Amino acid sequence: MRILVTGAAGQVGMALARALPDLGDLVLAGRDALDLSHPEAIAGRLSAFNPDLIVNAAAYTAVDRAETERDLAYAVNAAAVEAMGRWAAAEKVPLIHFSTDYVFDGRASEPYRETDPVNPLSVYGKSKAEGERLLLATGAPCLIVRTSWVYAATGKNFVKTIARLAGERSGLAVVSDQMGTPTSAAQIASFVRALAGEGLPGLPALFEASSRLVHFTASGWTTWHGFACAIVAGMKRRGVPVKASEVRAIPTSDYPTPAERPQFSRLSTARLQSVFNFHPEPWERALDGVLDTMFGGKPSS
Ligand SMILES: NC(=O)c1ccc[n+]([C@@H]2O[C@H](COP(=O)([O-])OP(=O)(O)OC[C@H]3O[C@@H](n4cnc5c(N)ncnc54)[C@H](OP(=O)(O)O)[C@@H]3O)[C@@H](O)[C@H]2O)c1
Repeated sequence: MRILVTGAAGQVGMALARALPDLGDLVLAGRDALDLSHPEAIAGRLSAFNPDLIVNAAAYTAVDRAETERDLAYAVNAAAVEAMGRWAAAEKVPLIHFSTDYVFDGRASEPYRETDPVNPLSVYGKSKAEGERLLLATGAPCLIVRTSWVYAATGKNFVKTIARLAGERSGLAVVSDQMGTPTSAAQIASFVRALAGEGLPGLPALFEASSRLVHFTASGWTTWHGFACAIVAGMKRRGVPVKASEVRAIPTSDYPTPAERPQFSRLSTARLQSVFNFHPEPWERALDGVLDTMFGGKPSS
């Protein structure tokens, strides 16, 4: 089986590169090999790669910058995804694609289900929602995996930012009124591995059983403030020097950003469990694994 992973230099792409090699012939395509800002060139590139399975981990993920780079965000997150879907539909090649909790407006009080209507607040969220819609409309044998608050030991993410700031500043202030679920790239990759391990012939039917859309997050939930506290506590347990004596909880209104984020973006994993029989580990345990990679060793208590 030849598996094409796009966005190979990203958080999820790199985790896939670690998780999948023994399942087949892995083709890792970075931006230089497959540039999604040119959707018209995608079919030709995919034919040249000739994959049996595509995992699209590439995306325009600069949430705030997207507010002023709308066309680029839509080209990469929507038009390119449609082009991939058209090729996958014509060639009957299964395609796994990722989307985001930011397709929701965050006004719910119960975890979002796959059947809930989307209503994105930001350009990034809108471009991802449009990518979902266009991909499903191609009729491709695809699975859209919506996930949230992704982090890894590599790349740009909240864990790395908080770890750096905790070593530099005497105090941190982090928003405490946005709720969601941190999900490690390795957790996402382990789900993709489980899917690929099912074998190609069964994948389209498995995807159909979930209406080609599934929510995937770690189990449990927290706030950005709770997440930051867990990161700092994990650093301290590992003996990493921490300058920050406190992590102060602040409201979103005290930390304005160009893009509006949903206040509540917990995703229900009921479909993940019932259709795919996949039960992700708690976010705290996955965070421990990433902190081990970043700082080495096991916590002292
Ligand atoms: N990060 C999150 O918190 C989060 C949350 C929910 C859902 N997701 C979704 O999860 C998926 C994986 O995200 P991630 O966290 O792994 O993102 P990431 O670390 O930002 O990686 C995205 C990758 O896409 C590549 N890319 C960007 N523009 C491209 C283009 N025009 N052509 C080709 N490649 C391009 C980037 O390449 P360069 O390395 O060259 O920039 C990068 O390697 C995405 O679909 C994202 O929307 C992410």
